[in-house]
Amino acid sequence: MNTVHVTASRDYDVLIGSGLLGSIGSRAAAMKKVKKVCIVSDTNVWPLYGDTVRSSITDAGLKAVRFVFPAGEESKNADTYLELLNCLAENHLTRTDLIVALGGGVVGDLAGFAAATYLRGISFIQVPTTLLAAVDSSVGGKTAIDLPAGKNLVGAFWQPSLVLCDTDCLNTLPEDIFRDGCAEVIKYAVLYDHDLFRCLAQTGLDFDRETVITRCVELKRDVVAQDEFDTGMRMKLNLGHTFGHGVEAQSNFEISHGKAVAIGMAIVARAGFAKGICTKEARDEILSVLESFKLPASCDSTPEQLFTAALSDKKRSGGTVSLIVPRSIADCVILPMPVTEIQSFIEAGL
Ligand code: GLY
Repeated sequence: MNTVHVTASRDYDVLIGSGLLGSIGSRAAAMKKVKKVCIVSDTNVWPLYGDTVRSSITDAGLKAVRFVFPAGEESKNADTYLELLNCLAENHLTRTDLIVALGGGVVGDLAGFAAATYLRGISFIQVPTTLLAAVDSSVGGKTAIDLPAGKNLVGAFWQPSLVLCDTDCLNTLPEDIFRDGCAEVIKYAVLYDHDLFRCLAQTGLDFDRETVITRCVELKRDVVAQDEFDTGMRMKLNLGHTFGHGVEAQSNFEISHGKAVAIGMAIVARAGFAKGICTKEARDEILSVLESFKLPASCDSTPEQLFTAALSDKKRSGGTVSLIVPRSIADCVILPMPVTEIQSFIEAGL
């Protein structure tokens, strides 16, 4: 097992290794005054791991209640959020009790936002069961729900008290969902780590999971320690996301988040090269690694559609949108781009 310690407004450990799920009860019981735990999960994950987590909690002498909602991004909305708050209140969870988020990014974001707001904030543990959640969304304290107008438009920064990443959970992931997480892993490598990039280029999907997840979490730990509230360098984690969110939305979410981020990275690599920012070598290496992971690098969206989506990006400020563009591997820049130039940038990258 590897441990990464995160320093933020609340410090916590991220534990990464095999066979950790059964230890969740004793770890929860070791937290001060916790008596009751609400396990939040979805209809895909609960049947696989719900009983193990619930037994671990009750065996440790704690009460367990559960809130299981239909799997999918469509559930990450105000209705499900209110249902969850009502479930917490009806089961009389107090400020010293605990939420366990058992699942992927949707579960973590929703449960985390409920933890941030119920009784003005209670503790929660992230138990990521997808690669994407393990390397990105479970660490760093971003919690949110979606509005009809866009993804993650309501949320809070609320750090977990522990992240417990049992790598065995990845064994039940369909390869396609695993590849979604690989797009985020590639993102970390392109942003910060040439060795990791080279390793991924060699291994393809067959990388050592514990090692690679740990490396990504270390990289994210360093970002969060310097910019927890996303006012500066944390924005770089948006690589591939500005246009990726547009690709995702244009496809009515048929193109998954990870695939859309892969397309978004390919767009900024190609456009970056066309505009003289990204080297040819880096552009080619990025496109080649995406291909070796069988991740897409193009889509049917038009420049106009992606431009419109970019206008509602959270990284927009007045007349500019902050784009993250690779110069070379492990060297990406935050480029505040005037809205008037964005469409031609997209055209160069599609
Ligand atoms: N997922 C991007 C961030 O945590 O800032």
